Amino acid sequence: MENLAVNPAERDKPLILFGLGGVGRALLSQIGEQRSLHREKYGLRIRFLALCDSSGAVVEPQGGFSDELLAEILQHKEKGGALASHPLGQSYQSPKAMVDQTGGPGAVVVDCTASDDTADALLLALAKGCQVVLANKKPLTVVQEVYDGISRSLSNARWETTVGAGLPVIATLNRMVSSGDEVNRIAGSFSGTLGYLMTGLEEGRSYSETVAEAHRLGYTEPDPRDDLGGVDVARKALILARGIGWRMEMEQVEIRGLYPERMAGLSVDGFLAELPSLDAEYGARVASAAAEGKVLRYAAALSEGACSVGPTAVAKDSPLGRLTGTDNLVELHSRWYSPNPLVIQGRGAGVEATAAGVLSDIVELR
Ligand SMILES: NC(=O)c1ccc[n+]([C@@H]2O[C@H](COP(=O)([O-])OP(=O)(O)OC[C@H]3O[C@@H](n4cnc5c(N)ncnc54)[C@H](OP(=O)(O)O)[C@@H]3O)[C@@H](O)[C@H]2O)c1
Repeated sequence: MENLAVNPAERDKPLILFGLGGVGRALLSQIGEQRSLHREKYGLRIRFLALCDSSGAVVEPQGGFSDELLAEILQHKEKGGALASHPLGQSYQSPKAMVDQTGGPGAVVVDCTASDDTADALLLALAKGCQVVLANKKPLTVVQEVYDGISRSLSNARWETTVGAGLPVIATLNRMVSSGDEVNRIAGSFSGTLGYLMTGLEEGRSYSETVAEAHRLGYTEPDPRDDLGGVDVARKALILARGIGWRMEMEQVEIRGLYPERMAGLSVDGFLAELPSLDAEYGARVASAAAEGKVLRYAAALSEGACSVGPTAVAKDSPLGRLTGTDNLVELHSRWYSPNPLVIQGRGAGVEATAAGVLSDIVELR
């Protein structure tokens, strides 16, 4: 284990980390594993001011967190422990109060929660001269004003992993916007789970069989309606819409989910049992798309000021049409990328790839 004593030649990068779920824990591990890279290549020493979960926090002890202590906290979380019950744990009032207490200029507040409660903490952090990195989409998809506050200064805020996880979607979009290129249309597939489902349908399998299998394999959330409803994809589409300068609220994103309202109130088992009632409808949709040389994708579409997500028939020979399996893909159509769009494709989920994207954001913030 490495000695964490401060070397004056290294630039100190103190973090306040909210969220020690899959992504937050992978981030903690990767920071430990990459210490020599960060020191040798970037002259950087990442340390923690506070680690916070939904129960409580461990605040930097006198002398700093040693790697042994970080590894021990990681183990505690991996075993399902709450930070409040850790020997060094304490409760805290709110993410905002924690930032107020521990944040100062030069600190980076990292949001690896899936919570609505961090938006005011992030805004306070920026007001206090901190920088922010988000894996959490929610603060960027509440009211436009919050998005504006977080995104005002690109040198102080990054949220690359909120769309397409480790794929460089936001950075690419920002580069296009900063050059004055006009992004006039975006089409994308931003859910590996729904990509898996659409590939299954295209291969001739039934809707019920494909959803049940994805559920059994753990590809869906415990309640598959959390994926099939389309809200997570809609959040990503809204982040892209705001990224190209559209002023838009979540209510303006048209969301076409993959199950009817009558199935919303069922238990998970009841929902799974009802799935075969949708087989004929989805079989017919796939057949009707195929008759026009198209395939069905769960797509986000941004065009002419309108933003929608839902099952969409797309040309078989388009980038989206050629997509199979769980990869994410985004087509960026612009003045300079026309008629062929700029296309980004690859693995769009996974805690390790997402944590690596968060870590790149942290390192890139100067
Ligand atoms: N997983 C992926 O592939 C992926 C890809 C891209 C983006 N993301 C995004 O990354 C974020 C984290 O994902 P995940 O898979 O790590 O989620 P997760 O496993 O559900 O972890 C969420 C963490 O946030 C903590 N938390 C919740 N409310 C909090 C609060 N008010 N203050 C402090 N901590 C709080 C939870 O605390 P407890 O431990 O106490 O429950 C938990 O540690 C999500 O927003 C997700 O959408 C994930």
